[in-house]
This record gives sequence, C-alpha cells and structure tokens, in this order.
Amino acid sequence: MAATRARVAHLLRLLQRAACQCPAHSHTYSQAPGLPPSGKTTDYAFEMAVSNIRYGPGVTKEVGLDLQNMGAKNVCLMTDKTLSQLPPVRVVMDSLVRNGINFQVYDEVRVEPTDSSFMDAIEFAKKGAFDAYVAVGGGSTMDTCKAANLYASSPNSEFLDYVNAPIGKGKPVLVPLRPLIAVPTTSGTGSETTGVAIFDYEHLKVKTGIASRAIKPTLGLVDPLHTLHMPGQVVANSGFDVLCHALESYTALPYHMRSPCPSNPIMRPAYQGSNPISDIWAVHALRIVAKYLKRAVRNPDDLEARSNMHLASAFAGIGFGNAGVHLCHGMSYPISGLVKTYKAKDYNVDHPLVPHGLSVVLTSPAVFTFTAQMFPERHLETAEILGADTRTTKRQDAGPVLADTLRKLLFDLNVDNGLAAIGYSKADIPALVKGTLPQERVTKLAPRPQSEEDLSALFEASMKLY
Ligand SMILES: NC(=O)c1ccc[n+]([C@@H]2O[C@H](COP(=O)([O-])OP(=O)(O)OC[C@H]3O[C@@H](n4cnc5c(N)ncnc54)[C@H](O)[C@@H]3O)[C@@H](O)[C@H]2O)c1
Ligand SMILES: [Zn+2]
Repeated sequence: MAATRARVAHLLRLLQRAACQCPAHSHTYSQAPGLPPSGKTTDYAFEMAVSNIRYGPGVTKEVGLDLQNMGAKNVCLMTDKTLSQLPPVRVVMDSLVRNGINFQVYDEVRVEPTDSSFMDAIEFAKKGAFDAYVAVGGGSTMDTCKAANLYASSPNSEFLDYVNAPIGKGKPVLVPLRPLIAVPTTSGTGSETTGVAIFDYEHLKVKTGIASRAIKPTLGLVDPLHTLHMPGQVVANSGFDVLCHALESYTALPYHMRSPCPSNPIMRPAYQGSNPISDIWAVHALRIVAKYLKRAVRNPDDLEARSNMHLASAFAGIGFGNAGVHLCHGMSYPISGLVKTYKAKDYNVDHPLVPHGLSVVLTSPAVFTFTAQMFPERHLETAEILGADTRTTKRQDAGPVLADTLRKLLFDLNVDNGLAAIGYSKADIPALVKGTLPQERVTKLAPRPQSEEDLSALFEASMKLY
C-alpha cells in the first residue's frame, strides 16, 4: 500500500515536472489576482459544468410548465426588439399565459450589449424582484439576462466586482441565483450552456465579460424551429462563432499546462484549457459545421441543416464553456469594440456593429497559422474535418493548410475581405493590440505565447484574406 502511494506520488511529480518544462511554462492565469498560489505551478484537474439542455422541434411550448414545476410566480421575460415581434417570443408568451404564470417583458436588450445596456436590464430586474427568468434570443439576450439575474441576486455588489480581471475584480460568485431558462434563437454562441456573459466596456472600447459557473442557465430549451426565422447573415456569422469556438477550444493550451493551480476549487476558472471531455464536443461540433453551415446559410427552408447547426452551437458551447477560447476571441473584442461605421447586413440595429462571429473569424487564418507549430496534429485534424486533403501534408505545413481551408470557406460564403473591408487600416493596429492586451483570460490559453509584436503581425496579416 505504502509502495503504491509512493509510486503514485512519484508519477505525479514526474507529470508535474513534464508539464513545467513545456514551452508554455510562462503562462500564468488567475481569475482573481491576489489569491495565494497553492504551491503547485500547473493545474492537475478540470471540471465540466453544463446547463441542462432539452432539444426538440417545438419544445419551447413546454416553458410555462417548467416554470410552474419550479414554483415560479413572477417571471422576467427578456428579449430584443426584433425578436419581440417574432414567433419565438410569441410561443413563450402563449405558454406562460396558458400555464397561469405572471410575467413582465423586458425587450430593450441591446444587440451586442454594453455595460450601460447591462445596467439598464439589471435595474429592471432589481425593481421587478423576479423569482425566475426566461431569455429568448441570441447571445446578446441570454448574456444580458445572466447579468440581470446575477446582480439582482447580489444587490449590494458593484458592477465591476464580478467582471473578469484585469478590467474588473473577478470575484467568485457566492450568492444563489434565480432559475434562468434560455431559449436560443441563433446558432452560434452556445450561451445557453455556458457561465459566460459578454459585454462591451464602453470606457475602454473593448469587450470583456463575466465568467462563472454560477451564472449558467438552469435549462436551455434548444428548439430548431426558431432558426427558420434567422436572416442569412445572422446564420453565417453565428455559424462562424461555432466554428471558432470549436477550433479554439480544441487547440487551446491543455488544462494541465495552465497555471496557477487554484488553491480552492471555486477559483478554478470556467475556461480551463483543452481537456478530453471538451475535445469530444469540439470535434463533433466541427464535423457538423463542415457538413451543414453552407447549406444553413444558403437555404432558409433547410430545416435539417439549420437544426443541426442549432445543435452544433450547443455542442461547441459545452466544449468551449469549459476549455475556453483563445486568440481569435481575444483579438475580436477590440475589433468589435472599436467599430467605426461598419453596419452589418441583416442586423436590424441603429448603431455601427461588427457582429461577434464575423469579428472572430476574420483573424482565424492568421491565428491558426501562428499557433499550429505548438500542436500541429490537432490543427491538421481540424483542417481535414473541414475538407482539406491532408494525406501528404507535412506537420510543419499544418498552419497554412488550415488557414487556406478557412479562407476557402469564407470566400465561398462571400465574407468581407478582411479587417480592411470592415473599416480598419494599418494605423488602427496599435489600438487593436492595446485592446487585446487586457484579454489575458483568453489570450493566455493560446497554445503559443504572443508578444505585442506578434499581435501586431496577426492583425496586419488579417487586413486582407484573399
Ligand atoms: N455567453 C457566451 O458564451 C457567448 C459566446 C459567444 C458570443 N457571445 C456574445 O453573444 C453576442 C452575439 O450573439 P448572437 O450572435 O447570438 O446574436 P445576437 O443576439 O446579437 O442577435 C443578432 C441579431 O439577430 C437577430 N435574431 C436573433 N435570432 C433571430 C431569429 N431567430 N430570427 C430573426 N432574427 C433573429 C437579433 O434580433 C439581432 O438583430 C455578442 O455580444 C457576443 O460577444 C456570448
Ligand atoms: Zn464566440
């Protein structure tokens, strides 16, 4: 027995030492800086946290019964202005009325929310003293509702308390939240599965967010019928989000190379690095994207393709919600935050907007060319899933091959030709780099550490794609 214990201890020490010799040794990450390190350099465990998910065409009509089963008496229904006029919200309202649930509607969600739009929703939630929430919409709505639930449940907290460090204080959420049912209407963010809420922090003109398992929805009702209303560009951009969630989480730094090892499990970040369970969801989501994304964009009546993309969004959400994302997302936050005049087609909003999925995918060819030298097999495997013939490809060509495969996909779907086409020029690169630097929560999960010069070069390489 003692011999076995000694052997296990020896093996663990060896593993630990092997992890410390990795080129990513310099990666440090802490959700709440200032907490004493546990003494261990890198983590040795990962945790999977996922919302309950119910999938089925028409399943939204069950929402009233779910709320009744939870004993909810006073419900907040959140959505955005466009969706408030569309069937997904109508179906929810009918179900609430049919089941005798009292509710108030908040339809002021901002598409690509900001700190002030979050605060407006939080005020509404505080005043309403709700005992449950239903979010009907895309990531913008689901994220706004998570924040409203969090701060209404923690009324004495300052807004920055729970916001990711270094912009906010990244405090752990210790208060109990109300039940939240998320009904996604886009096929992209996977927000129905994750403990993440993203917003644009207007003072710095960059996106950041709140990341805690505590804010994940209680239940996600994944109803493919809602996808039939989505305009083509929303299908494309939200599909690119699924693509990047899958690619980034699969190529992220492995969890056992991330440091520090938390001294208390509550400090283990939601984004932990790639891990064997997230890998399965990421690869499966990628296969679906390869098969169905183009069809879903091109044909609004293709229920098979749109249903599959709706599932892929949840699958990739389960993967990245626990593994994390890295450079495409880290660099996307200033790309959308610093938007000048670009207005995306099919987005019914009165402000300039670079949709999230577009802001992540435009840098993907440059990013994966840069990261591939760390885990070339994984990069090659994803290129193959996306349709590249990799039978004779050398490991050192994994990056360029994946990049070409991505460029071809974007070209086939008429995506804007790089950052230049959405209003950026070389002169903007220092500001884009500056906006990426505070995104350590994700950029440090990139398999390859990056300097400011590297980031500049990645933005420059993303100015034109074709
Ligand atoms: N929480 C997370 O884990 C996570 C992950 C990725 C992205 N995000 C965030 O989510 C936001 C983007 O969300 P999104 O891409 O889902 O889009 P969205 O919620 O911003 O909606 C985009 C547009 O599509 C419309 N729309 C949505 N569903 C529709 C439907 N079925 N029919 C017709 N119109 C519809 C909306 O009204 C809006 O105009 C960004 O703020 C992004 O940063 C969050
Ligand atoms: Zn995303």
